[in-house]
Amino acid sequence: MPTHTFPPLVAGNWKMNGLIASLKEVEALKEKLADANPRCDVMLCPPFTLLSRMNKVLGDSGIGLGGQDCHWEPSGAHTGDIAAEMLADIGCTAVIVGHSERRTDHGETDEIVRKKAAAAHRAGLVSIICIGETIDERKAGKTLDVLSTQIAGSLPEGCNAANTVIAYEPVWAIGTGLTPTVEEVAEAHAHIRKELAAQVGGAEEAARVRIQYGGSVKPGNAKELMAVDNVDGALVGGASLTAEDFFGIISAAYL
Ligand code: PGA
Repeated sequence: MPTHTFPPLVAGNWKMNGLIASLKEVEALKEKLADANPRCDVMLCPPFTLLSRMNKVLGDSGIGLGGQDCHWEPSGAHTGDIAAEMLADIGCTAVIVGHSERRTDHGETDEIVRKKAAAAHRAGLVSIICIGETIDERKAGKTLDVLSTQIAGSLPEGCNAANTVIAYEPVWAIGTGLTPTVEEVAEAHAHIRKELAAQVGGAEEAARVRIQYGGSVKPGNAKELMAVDNVDGALVGGASLTAEDFFGIISAAYL
């Protein structure tokens, strides 16, 4: 089990899921967490449409609120986009950037991700920067190279342990029920930690950056995955949609 001098972060990424009625799951999660005192921070990242209402439901529960994406400009003529400042204004403390679904569906490059992460920091938000290899890249033995390139390209100047979280999400593990072996997770996370040193001003700072694992995290595998060295929490998709599963992950790993 990694020993943490900082709380790991378990964040739920609802993706394009959730209607107003889904907030009952948040009520239920709040209740489950009320007396639980997990050894981790907990956050939910719903679609933009639910941010305001969810913020009210979360109240002073201690559960954080994050966005799933932001534009890099603070305002302007960008139909359909949301600025990091708008997320901060509505009560978010973090935003996911560079998720593989954004990289695939919207052609987001490392450079775009870097600009978005910089925007998050400008607005006072924590950036949760997602990186990860495709199955072809893994099969070709390129996983660590891909991670190095994404880290070098996606992290803006000024990243530190307080404003940046890295989410290692193998693309082939997202939503598939497949997960890497614990050895593969350990190798990737150790590599990310090493590469981060150059980005955050040294190994000491890099040691404090939270590196989440993401991709088919479930109540049944959370304990094993979160016990891997250099794994400092999880970014959870499908299993974050119900209080039962999301709390199941938190309790399996951090209670
Ligand atoms: P999943 O998604 O847990 O549904 O695999 C993880 C993610 O994409 O953040």
